[in-house]
Amino acid sequence: MKEENLSMMAGPLLSWYAENKRTLPWRGTGDPYCVLVSEIMLQQTRVAAVIPYYLRWMEVLPDVESLAAVDEERLMKLWQGLGYYSRARNLRRAAKMMMETYAGRFPETREELLRLPGVGEYTAGAVASIAFGQAVPAVDGNVLRVASRVTGEDGDILDPGVRRRFQQLLEQVIPPDRPGEFNQALMDLGAMVCLPNGMPDCGQCPLAPFCEANRLGLQGVLPVRRKKAARRVEDLTVYLLLREGRIALRRREDTGLLAGLWEFPHVPGSLEEARAGDPLDTWALKAVSWQKKLTARHIFTHVEWHMTGYLLEVSGEGCNLTWTGQEELDLLAVPSAFSKFLEEARRALREGTER
Ligand code: ADE
Repeated sequence: MKEENLSMMAGPLLSWYAENKRTLPWRGTGDPYCVLVSEIMLQQTRVAAVIPYYLRWMEVLPDVESLAAVDEERLMKLWQGLGYYSRARNLRRAAKMMMETYAGRFPETREELLRLPGVGEYTAGAVASIAFGQAVPAVDGNVLRVASRVTGEDGDILDPGVRRRFQQLLEQVIPPDRPGEFNQALMDLGAMVCLPNGMPDCGQCPLAPFCEANRLGLQGVLPVRRKKAARRVEDLTVYLLLREGRIALRRREDTGLLAGLWEFPHVPGSLEEARAGDPLDTWALKAVSWQKKLTARHIFTHVEWHMTGYLLEVSGEGCNLTWTGQEELDLLAVPSAFSKFLEEARRALREGTER
């Protein structure tokens, strides 16, 4: 591993950034709140997908105080579709902590930032450097890819030891007068030039003259990442239950996957038409007319849902269900896993009112 290559990065990287940096709505604000919210949204989600969420969020929750006071339903609605909903809840907990423990002040050092809920090494580094000008790195997957290619590091980048080592090495080379730009330049280079899956555009790269992967033709091999465990597949049968112009939803448990969000009632397993009516008893419902069968899949990090859905008219009491009209449906946070069913539910409710 040629770690000394990292010490050559700052100059060419900053010149490249001055010419090529992306225009992003949270850039140049210098507002730590904007930096924190954008960085949390950008974890696990691409920049293009984040932008509309970020803009909408800032209209509704422009500062720490408004975030600390927002109710759960509004918060989840603003996050709906971004996934990993605990990130939004942690942001609100962090805002509350700032209001209560820090008297509305934003913590400025990496160490203080690390005490906020949901803020880890990467986010603390990003906020400390971008908003407060501190010379600390922000090491995410993009940065690890660039750094392992430049140095020729062939250890697993998911190994915490490898990550820590790069963190320490970058601490030594980050320019103290422009740490935020350095970190963002690395992120942009990773997103625009030093692309994953053996597809980097080395001809455009300011680091190519001293990059080990470029010199040895190892772009397709580096970074080394151990194989992830295969995802578990879960079959579900999902019910779009219509009753008197309303559709049944229920709230998920407060813990676990998609905690506290709204969903269509479902049961484990993939039920064929002949058995699909069986679970209706548990909700004290009877089928009036079966209208449509649908299928959908959704991929989470560790699990894959294979869903069979039924749209039907029902009658009966409907215990433990919330009967939702068209307008209320738009106010509740239903996760993207159900988006195909949600579309179908909207159509059914619309057609119901038109009839
Ligand atoms: N990815 C994560 N954080 C980013 C940032 N601040 N700029 C560009 N891409 C990013």
